Amino acid sequence: MAPFIRIGVLISGGGSNLQAILEACAKTTISGKVVFVGTDNPSAKGLRWAAKYDIPTFAVDYNAIISGYHPATAALQLPEDFDLEDVLSKQHIFKHGEHKQHLEAFFLTRAIAETGLLEQIQAHPFDLLVLAGFMRTLSPYFIDHIVPNPAEPRIMNIHPALLPSFPGIDGYGDTFRYGCKVGGCTVHFVDYGEDTGPIIGQTAFQIQPNDTLESVKKKGLELEWRLYPQCIQLFAEGRLKAIEQEFHQANGKRYRRKVVKIQEV
Ligand code: GAR
Repeated sequence: MAPFIRIGVLISGGGSNLQAILEACAKTTISGKVVFVGTDNPSAKGLRWAAKYDIPTFAVDYNAIISGYHPATAALQLPEDFDLEDVLSKQHIFKHGEHKQHLEAFFLTRAIAETGLLEQIQAHPFDLLVLAGFMRTLSPYFIDHIVPNPAEPRIMNIHPALLPSFPGIDGYGDTFRYGCKVGGCTVHFVDYGEDTGPIIGQTAFQIQPNDTLESVKKKGLELEWRLYPQCIQLFAEGRLKAIEQEFHQANGKRYRRKVVKIQEV
């Protein structure tokens, strides 16, 4: 039997993936339980699923933090262990050449918000942190706190596209507008980039000529509700191993990437 894992969930909106995870835990298709639900959006509708299952919740209001940001006072709200240069050197969300002030404002506001998340999370020990429609980028500051050993990743995300195509905030919309004939969803571990971490699982669906953006989203979400619990269960069973893989290409170049190997039972 797989060990029983404690799962923390972060959401921003409707929470249908949270619902699927809670149901999978109740049916024991996930060998685990959700120990908290956090959000960046105090009015996230998905919080009702946490209430239904009697799970502790908390909100860190990112919008209020971002609109109240002032460079002169930001430092007062930051913890002692925050190192902006370290974060800027690790992140690969923004390309080099981005305006320094913009980068600093982005990561300082995220650090303030993430300090709030870390304070709340502290009360609820967990094994796996699951992003279920959490629409905020996590900075290296937060990731390093949750994942002290990069060889053992423990933050998962679900993305509404077949990565590495269409990272960002509107995966199904980008897939549909591009004219793709196949769409899909991806579960991956979170790294310092935007939807760039090692892929755990993917499911694809056909996009037919009569599909609309709405029908594409519906098809995709229904697959998400199956894929995410399956990937979480693989984690619970200890079957996900992140390894550095290297290929020597015909052109003499080396290709290195961290990938997930799924161990056989
Ligand atoms: C899902 O489609 C999920 O893949 C997507 O948000 C939706 C949340 O739905 N996540 C992202 O785009 C993350 N960048 P839900 O709140 O009903 O679970």
